[in-house]
Amino acid sequence: MNQAGDGASSRRSLPEPVTAVTDTAGAWLPARMAEVEAGLLAAVEGEGELTGDAVGTLNAGGKRMRPMLVLLCAGPEAGAAAVRAGIAVELVHMASLVHDDVLDRAPLRRGQPTVFASAGRERATALGDRLFSTAFKVLVAGGDADAVTEVSATAVDLARGELKQREGAFNMELSEADYFERCGLKTGRLFEAACVLGRSSTGGEPGPIGSFGHRIGLAFQLLDDVLDIAGPPERTGKARGTDLLDGTVTLPLIIAAQFDPALAGLDLRSLDEQSAAACCDRIEATGALDQVRSRAIAFIEEAKAGLNEAGVEPGQRELLELIADGVVHRYS
Ligand code: FPP
Ligand code: MG
Repeated sequence: MNQAGDGASSRRSLPEPVTAVTDTAGAWLPARMAEVEAGLLAAVEGEGELTGDAVGTLNAGGKRMRPMLVLLCAGPEAGAAAVRAGIAVELVHMASLVHDDVLDRAPLRRGQPTVFASAGRERATALGDRLFSTAFKVLVAGGDADAVTEVSATAVDLARGELKQREGAFNMELSEADYFERCGLKTGRLFEAACVLGRSSTGGEPGPIGSFGHRIGLAFQLLDDVLDIAGPPERTGKARGTDLLDGTVTLPLIIAAQFDPALAGLDLRSLDEQSAAACCDRIEATGALDQVRSRAIAFIEEAKAGLNEAGVEPGQRELLELIADGVVHRYS
């Protein structure tokens, strides 16, 4: 079982892209983020026999990018509804990672053994279910009916994205279009919801702010898939080559296979840790990782350009651009 920590103080320090945003924003952002953090802890402390695992998962780290996006899209007048939405999106995110680690049989996340690895499949599945339900409890307690609808629709899309990933597993014929559809559902959608919820929490029309979130979510996933190949695990907190080992075909592999016939003919089912590490090196040698990084940066530029129509104040825009840049300038 994960060790229960002693609150936010036991979390790893936040990475530079996140602190750049909090340092640039006025005092309102760190104040609201502290409320999100306290609300997360209060929410998971009610998890009964799973509290230790839940608090351990919360304190294992995480960049809190999604709640920060909620708050940034709400702006300086972000209030209790934005804080509740921030808590809810982070809980859904945590739930999805705990479940994802069960499906991936992943050993490490955020530099620590996953709940799956330390406490087993049953406990990790139950914990993901609990965290997921708690997200809705938080929203319902605030009477945020529209937010419940948005988070519920988002959760359906997360599950659809995960299902697509499983359906496409080990398929070396997977197309870029299939890959991007999956990424949009499993990652873009929750970033989009974070932005929509933030904007709606202050009575604003979501408009193009959802597309901003969706695009940076896609960029986030592209970079995640690069980091899975490039590592290093000391910085990413995850084992290198996990995607290859569980048969997940990602853009770096799709592109690399166009240049390296050995990769094109790869039988992903035959890989073990050693051969997966060798595949990571081969993928890197084709230059595919640079191509994927460039595609991620292009999504970020598109997202930032889309802010022209989003009706955000200049100060708010600066913060949104900073967090967008942080998505592609990170190692974890
Ligand atoms: C991590 O991505 C996983 C996701 C973005 C989504 C996982 C979704 C589910 C398991 C569906 C169930 C969802 C709910 C709402 C409980 P990744 O596997 O690409 O990244 P990783 O390298 O961090 O594992
Ligand atoms: Mg995974």
